[in-house]
Amino acid sequence: MGEDGLEQDREDILAAVRGYAKRKLATSEFVPGTTPVPVSGKVLDPEDYAALVDASLDGWLTAGRFHPLFERALARYVGARDSVFVNSGSSANLCALSALTSRKLASYKKRFGKRPLEPGDEVLTVAAGFPTTVNPIIQNGMRPVVVDVELGTYDAIAERLREAVGPKTRAIMMAHTLGNPFDLDTVRELCQEHGLWLIEDSCDALGSTYDGKRTGSFGDTATVSFYPAHHITTGEGGAVFVKSPLVRKQVESFRDWGRDCYCETGHDNTCFKRFEWQLGELPAGYDHKYIYSHIGYNLKATDMQAALGLSQLNKIDGFVAARKANFEHLHRRLTGVEGLILPFATPKSDPSWFGFPITIDPEHPADRNLLTRFLDDRKIGSRLLFAGNLTKQPAYRDVDFRVVGDLTNTDIVMNRTFWVGVYPGLTPPMLDYIADSIIEFVENANR
Ligand SMILES: Cc1ncc(COP(=O)(O)O)c(C=O)c1O
Repeated sequence: MGEDGLEQDREDILAAVRGYAKRKLATSEFVPGTTPVPVSGKVLDPEDYAALVDASLDGWLTAGRFHPLFERALARYVGARDSVFVNSGSSANLCALSALTSRKLASYKKRFGKRPLEPGDEVLTVAAGFPTTVNPIIQNGMRPVVVDVELGTYDAIAERLREAVGPKTRAIMMAHTLGNPFDLDTVRELCQEHGLWLIEDSCDALGSTYDGKRTGSFGDTATVSFYPAHHITTGEGGAVFVKSPLVRKQVESFRDWGRDCYCETGHDNTCFKRFEWQLGELPAGYDHKYIYSHIGYNLKATDMQAALGLSQLNKIDGFVAARKANFEHLHRRLTGVEGLILPFATPKSDPSWFGFPITIDPEHPADRNLLTRFLDDRKIGSRLLFAGNLTKQPAYRDVDFRVVGDLTNTDIVMNRTFWVGVYPGLTPPMLDYIADSIIEFVENANR
């Protein structure tokens, strides 16, 4: 037994927490039109509650014993070399791109033909997506170059990406839309051919594969989100996947105030020369803990979040299987319904779907806004494909986008697309209620 019976006390507390969670999580019967059918949500079990409390009882609070365990397990799952835990998917995107501006990556020019990113560089992306996939490009003084997407997959049209590469293009930063992997063959070929960095926003795609490999393992950096809507949750949270220890250090530096020091929280002198550095114009021996090599942020997460992440990750296979099964269920029910453009997986991919996107054919009389209101009245959750067309959002009015070709499909997404849920908390009767309601609405619109 631990000191003064503390370990036994901890076990007793955790047993009580598990019992509490079991009662709290009991579900009631589904009543169509009365029980909400959320578009997404967290799926917690008693072990998740116990993990949160276990980490709390350490009293450590910031990055502690659960952090490296979660980071390693996550990297192993995705097939990346390593991962860095941060406080959101948006923070992950910010760190993932910012890290590639580090002058400490200057050696990459000789080794891989790509220099650190700089203000004025162009980054290829899409406008039909989530704002914080594109924001880091703007926040780092670079220019977003946007191409149109394909209806049904909602990913960039590969040919447009080819046309978009110009003399200032230095990177590609895009999301696997709603879990559907973008054309990684074309993207990797372009990166290889033109010396571009790849920042893979896999925030909505944990568990998706392309050519048998998990998304998040392809990019120079890649990201994932653990916001409750996502495949696993830590409340708020995200991670950056990296391929090299050198890139990992820069990601950590941007996360941790921009510091040069890379000691883990609670450790000193990992480099064995804490008081022997001379960097910048600082005096020799200036404490390495307070030397800053980047203009950074503080985007760290707590150990309670890491503990929850680790517990959630244990259940990832079941979560992914449920998402795929729910997707198939909706697809089966909606196939052949006139006026609906249904989603489909990109070639070579096996998506771990985030949602079920539907576009109402522009020729069909059904109105997307009226349909989502109709669903809302029936307590069925739906979402738009995030920003629709980012170039038309008020915040982006003065952003100097370079638009390659037209954004016809992006505008259709803005006007005619929505998505409904596939998360593991949905049951077959709920999915049938979603499908029946959509069918009823579009058939009535046709009369
Ligand atoms: C594609 C994509 N990237 C980034 C994010 C941001 O993640 P977070 O909400 O954790 O900041 C989201 C949010 O859902 C997203 O859908």
